[in-house]
Amino acid sequence: MQVNFDFSGQHVVVFGGTTGINFGIAHAFARQGASLTVVSRKPENVEAATTELRSYGGKVHGVSADVRDFDAVGRALQASVDRFGLIDTLVSGAAGNFLCEAKDMSSNGFKVVVDIDLVGSFHVLRQAHAHLKKPGASVINITAPQSFIPMRYQAHACAAKAGVDQLTRVLALEWGGEGIRINSISPGPIDGTEGFRKLMAPAPSERERARNAVPLKRFGSLDDVANLALFLASPFAGYISGALIPCDGGGAMESVKPALESAGDEATASAAKA
Ligand code: COA
Ligand code: NAP
Repeated sequence: MQVNFDFSGQHVVVFGGTTGINFGIAHAFARQGASLTVVSRKPENVEAATTELRSYGGKVHGVSADVRDFDAVGRALQASVDRFGLIDTLVSGAAGNFLCEAKDMSSNGFKVVVDIDLVGSFHVLRQAHAHLKKPGASVINITAPQSFIPMRYQAHACAAKAGVDQLTRVLALEWGGEGIRINSISPGPIDGTEGFRKLMAPAPSERERARNAVPLKRFGSLDDVANLALFLASPFAGYISGALIPCDGGGAMESVKPALESAGDEATASAAKA
């Protein structure tokens, strides 16, 4: 289901906006009339995304840049502002991940994910600040349940996304006085995306069980996340800042439960032994 807002005449910039969840967000803003800038590393992704987004008839600018490169992020933003003016909504969602046990992870393997997810987010927000509409801009960081639920084989992404959440909160404090709102969306299992394929990838026989583990008994869609982004960028969310909002069918609560229950079991067992 898609919801309708009017973003015509507004400039929306989406980092990591050429595929998956972030592309779904860019798509939603394009449908609502925004002028869009999408940024990611691979020129072929930028080309494909801009071609599709232009089919809605709006203005679209695509830039190839790596969020790990502070100066390249600055140049991408300057070029987008030269074209479409100050930024009304900034979405920071570029991320990388892979599954690997911490004891087998190289230093560079840990660093690469922290550099993209956390340092990259800082680069995007820090460089965008000068170009955000003040007052009135909305910043949306894309975080993940890993930021508060410890997950095996994801020491790098858990650490990085926890950092992203604190960045959201601290900048909401620091930039609130300028009329900038900053919030985070924490998507759950969003079907058909790279993150879903890489990290959850339920085998066909496991799909049903994985789906049933979500309290709402379904995986999420691109529109589920995009609709929340539209809301956060709209005047309806005008008094919301520093919020971390799960869009996960209730899954985060469900994931934490077994961990708490087993922690409770262990505490009970050791208390019984004492
Ligand atoms: N298991 C263990 N280590 C891995 C790994 C894996 N599956 N994949 C990469 N690494 C390690 C590499 O060995 C390397 O460390 P080393 O130099 O000590 O050998 C380090 O991570 C960097 O790998 P590299 O391939 O050079 O990084 P990159 O910058 O080209 O790519 C990734 C970054 C690894 C995060 C890549 O998966 C990516 O670009 N992902 C974007 C898409 C994505 O992950 N989407 C899901 C979002 S949730
Ligand atoms: P995705 O399609 O791989 O999206 C990641 C995007 O970031 C791509 O457009 C990628 O494009 C870009 N990117 C990666 N590294 C970059 C870099 N160094 N510089 C600039 N751009 C870079 O994955 P996704 O699953 O949709 O994930 C999108 C966001 O949602 C991520 O923040 C992820 O953590 C979060 N999330 C996803 C899920 C899920 O179920 N999928 C769940 C929770 C949270 P290029 O390769 O062209 O650079």
